[in-house]
Amino acid sequence: MDVLTLHRIQVSLLPFAVLLFLTLSASAANSAHNTFAHCLVNHSEPSHPVTSAIFTPSSNLFSSTLDAYVRNLRFNTSTTRKPFLIITALHVSHVQASVICAQKHNLQMKIRSGGHDYEGTSYVAEVPFFILDMFNLRNIEVDIGSETAWVQAGATLGEVYYRIAEKSQLHGFPAGVCPTVGVGGHISGGGYGNMIRKYGLTVDNVIDAQMVDVQGRLLDRKSMGEDLFWAITGGGGASFGVVLSYKIKLVRVPETVTVFQVRRTLEQNATDVVYNWQHVAPTIDNDLFIRLILDVVNGTQNGTKTVRASFMALYLGDSKSLVSLLHEKFPQLGLKQSDCIETSWVRSVLFWTNINVTEPVEVLLDRQPQSPVNYLKRKSDYVKEPISKEGFEGIWKKMIELEDTLFQFNPYGGRMAEIPSTASPFPHRSGNLWKMQYQANWQQPGKTDYYIGLTRELHKYMTPFVSKNPREAFYNYKDLDLGINHNGKNSYAEARVYGVKYFKDNFDRLVQIKTKVDPGNFFRNEQSIPTLPYPKS
Ligand SMILES: Cc1cc2nc3c(=O)[nH]c(=O)nc-3n(C[C@H](O)[C@H](O)[C@H](O)COP(=O)(O)OP(=O)(O)OC[C@H]3O[C@@H](n4cnc5c(N)ncnc54)[C@H](O)[C@@H]3O)c2cc1C
Ligand SMILES: *[C@@H]1O[C@H](CO)[C@@H](O)[C@H](O)[C@H]1NC(C)=O
Ligand SMILES: *[C@@H]1O[C@H](CO)[C@@H](O)[C@H](O)[C@H]1NC(C)=O
Ligand SMILES: *[C@@H]1O[C@H](CO)[C@@H](O)[C@H](O)[C@H]1NC(C)=O
Ligand SMILES: *[C@@H]1O[C@H](CO)[C@@H](O)[C@H](O)[C@H]1NC(C)=O
Ligand SMILES: *[C@@H]1O[C@H](CO)[C@@H](O)[C@H](O)[C@H]1NC(C)=O
Ligand SMILES: *[C@@H]1O[C@H](CO)[C@@H](O)[C@H](O)[C@H]1NC(C)=O
Repeated sequence: MDVLTLHRIQVSLLPFAVLLFLTLSASAANSAHNTFAHCLVNHSEPSHPVTSAIFTPSSNLFSSTLDAYVRNLRFNTSTTRKPFLIITALHVSHVQASVICAQKHNLQMKIRSGGHDYEGTSYVAEVPFFILDMFNLRNIEVDIGSETAWVQAGATLGEVYYRIAEKSQLHGFPAGVCPTVGVGGHISGGGYGNMIRKYGLTVDNVIDAQMVDVQGRLLDRKSMGEDLFWAITGGGGASFGVVLSYKIKLVRVPETVTVFQVRRTLEQNATDVVYNWQHVAPTIDNDLFIRLILDVVNGTQNGTKTVRASFMALYLGDSKSLVSLLHEKFPQLGLKQSDCIETSWVRSVLFWTNINVTEPVEVLLDRQPQSPVNYLKRKSDYVKEPISKEGFEGIWKKMIELEDTLFQFNPYGGRMAEIPSTASPFPHRSGNLWKMQYQANWQQPGKTDYYIGLTRELHKYMTPFVSKNPREAFYNYKDLDLGINHNGKNSYAEARVYGVKYFKDNFDRLVQIKTKVDPGNFFRNEQSIPTLPYPKS
């Protein structure tokens, strides 16, 4: 907000700086009136001047605008390549102009909504680039009558949840648990949250979309056609166009839901409880989602380490029925009534982000994360067979040896196992017990190689326990270790390496759609969908 207010004051000074900069940086073949900036102005609605959306490095608001949506300090160093321009679109015509003019001037564009990409692909590039920043386009229109909402790409999930709850306490939406995540990247990449077992993925609850295609046309589901709509509901938006908004289907939630977190260390029989969790969590009542977080903490004896298992749950019902359900199905957890917190669905979102549920719910409107931004690395895997107790004992040993990494296990089953693997580009449906996320978080700039190394070592150790041929991964948990499309070279062979891990058999359909809608591969990034080398006309 500060950035915006300040920037409006500066607007009158901007156009000159912009034109000067772009005139100098554009290719010499272009005459001044034909620069990128002129092109942007020419292709924008005059009633919405694009000049107030343009930031060049010479603007003293450039750095704060860039930093405002950086969520991984690995990409906030002095050696991180910076964009030569940021366009903070204020109107759809600014998006259209960016797409048209970037092609005309052969410029690499990155699209950013909430900036939560784990590898910074929305605001970092290997080649000179500019950012089309969507944070100003964040309108949310909730219609309880039809149980739908239109949400713009720049909105955060917290804003979506807040606006739904403002109109109805009996509705919610099955998307991610972190309120600052952006709609644009989250939904286009699949998206899931703690109602996944009841309602499936976020994209299983999306019914329409608006996007700007490579020709600068504004399309909806009808005009883009079912193939392209399918692609941008799980295949990642950034390979196909700029998503402006999604129309989502709200889901019903009870007035009272229950959350809990129960912790057990190895000294408190965690192995036994975890072993049983894997049989219970993916098969129990769809109203219950029990995430398992594993980390390394001090043991009770001085100088010893142990593994701690934290079971964190959302139950779409009251605590009494939850306690009796778990006594029957998961007695090893020993859940007590006093472990349970009953609250509204929207307040349960606070619990999942470590905020007391009695805090004002307006915290969901905060676009800055509550906890400090870290350096981080994430990886993912899918588990299809239960792990034996001996298997877990080996994993504990490895975790204690590495110490500074943690795991998050997210159970599947329920609705996820019923939806065909071709319904959206996201292919990891039935047959999966849970998805795991590997996490390393650190605060020291010099430690990046060390921590990334730990996640790779743990990932290697897990090979016998996880999916094979391909070893699957979740696209929203972007991991460049899986392979990259070097400098947008558009090599099908290179892209296939990561593509089949994220999308399995759906990868080839994504490639066909990409070839049809963006044959020149304008929309590209480190892990985008490539075009076929010889497109059939
Ligand atoms: C703290 C944290 C918690 C998370 N929790 C969850 C979770 O619970 N569930 C889950 O599924 N994921 C989760 N994620 C992952 C998250 O869903 C993805 O990183 C997602 O891509 C973020 O969307 P964004 O708009 O914030 O990201 P951005 O970095 O802005 O974008 C991510 C990717 O999408 C592209 N993109 C962004 N906007 C558009 C657009 N308008 N049109 C076309 N392409 C676009 C970008 O170019 C980039 O490639 C979490 C991430 C973080 C950092
Ligand atoms: C402005 O755009 C139109 C097409 O939209 C084009 O015909 C015209 O030449 C452009 N003018 C300039 C100065 O670029
Ligand atoms: C990113 O780096 C800049 C410059 O060092 C700093 O001012 C800013 O606070 C950093 N951002 C975050 C989120 O730490
Ligand atoms: C751990 O298991 C043993 C044997 O089953 C049992 O006696 C003990 O009470 C359990 N400890 C905890 C903390 O549950
Ligand atoms: C652990 O070590 C601290 C100081 O190092 C000491 O004060 C404490 O008594 C020790 N506790 C146990 C259980 O040995
Ligand atoms: C864990 O133990 C170490 C010493 O072995 C101590 O320095 C550290 O503060 C302890 N951490 C916590 C969270 O208690
Ligand atoms: C949340 O806040 C309430 C009221 O301040 C307090 O009674 C309660 O203990 C807090 N809960 C937790 C888990 O901290």
